[in-house]
Amino acid sequence: MMDNLETLIDVRDLKTYFYLREGTVRAVDGATFSIRRGKTLGVVGESGCGKSVTAQSILQIVPRPGRIIQGEITLYQISGESGQQVTPVRITDLAPSSDRMRAIRGSTISMIFQEPMTSFSPVHTIGEQLAETIQIHHEVSKESARQSAINMMRQVGISNPERNFDAYPHQLSGGMRQRSMIAMALMLRPSLLIADEPTTALDVTTEAQILRLMRQMQESLGMAILFITHDLGVIAEMADDVVVMYLGRVVESTNVDSIFYDPKHPYLRALLKSIPRVGVKSGKRLAAIEGMVPNPLNVPQGCPFHPRCTEMIDGLCNVTVPDNLYLAEDHMVACHLYTSGG
Ligand SMILES: Nc1ncnc2c1ncn2[C@@H]1O[C@H](COP(=O)(O)OP(=O)(O)O)[C@@H](O)[C@H]1O
Ligand SMILES: [Mg+2]
Repeated sequence: MMDNLETLIDVRDLKTYFYLREGTVRAVDGATFSIRRGKTLGVVGESGCGKSVTAQSILQIVPRPGRIIQGEITLYQISGESGQQVTPVRITDLAPSSDRMRAIRGSTISMIFQEPMTSFSPVHTIGEQLAETIQIHHEVSKESARQSAINMMRQVGISNPERNFDAYPHQLSGGMRQRSMIAMALMLRPSLLIADEPTTALDVTTEAQILRLMRQMQESLGMAILFITHDLGVIAEMADDVVVMYLGRVVESTNVDSIFYDPKHPYLRALLKSIPRVGVKSGKRLAAIEGMVPNPLNVPQGCPFHPRCTEMIDGLCNVTVPDNLYLAEDHMVACHLYTSGG
């Protein structure tokens, strides 16, 4: 295991379920992974595999009727004069509406989404909203908050920030709104930025610019990024480490090179085969895998991927859930092919 100086967030056996009238959706069903300080962890998987609910769980913003029913999420905060003292904060022990959790949300961990309009109020200017974010968390004058907002707008590449300070969200282009949302998320210099499909709705050129901006901001602020995407091309560009999710489970996790050059799980291998070409935005990447993600209310017994798996071992894969197997310290796979000597 990684030592605590390197680890920023540790997620152990997380289970987040939605209790619906029709039954229980096991949105996250035993996920274990770590986010390294200052690094990017990519989370990849088809739609409905539990990526967004994993992010919501870390921030404790899972909407009803969902809740975390098991597992531990630990944040390792660095403090002390030398910056070498690590204080573990057990996020899963904090009440979602507690002051401590509110302080973590926004200032230690912040989030950006696919749709930037949801981050902004339509009736206030971008600049006012950025400045207000600082004023809520720090005692600073209005003028100094304004200056910080303008500086951040400049850093994220918003042209003419003094003038655009007074722009309303709807007056900006999609790309500029995305930059503004990033500015908002970075205003308080978080240790972790969670980015949930932040470029999925953008054209290829704007996507490339936003990805470059995120890497630049990561370098200048030293923050970690949890980058959620269904796009392996984006993973290749952004991630240091990768978690592959299928139906609420982490089926494989390793460093980005092993994801592409030493993939183990048949689900990951199928995803890789379905990439048309890196840099081409088809809008339906990953669509080439045989079959569909099953109904979440009716998850198959055994390995959740077995009905779609070309290497399914009858009597094993359709009966027993595979354990997490560590092929190396940083390479985990949950698949019977590697436990049965197959
Ligand atoms: N608010 C909700 N109410 C009920 N079910 C939900 C809710 N949010 C997510 N789910 C279910 O949880 C599962 C995981 O969803 P999600 O994390 O959004 O997937 P992803 O982000 O990987 O596309 C899906 O089956 C989804 O239908
Ligand atoms: Mg999602």
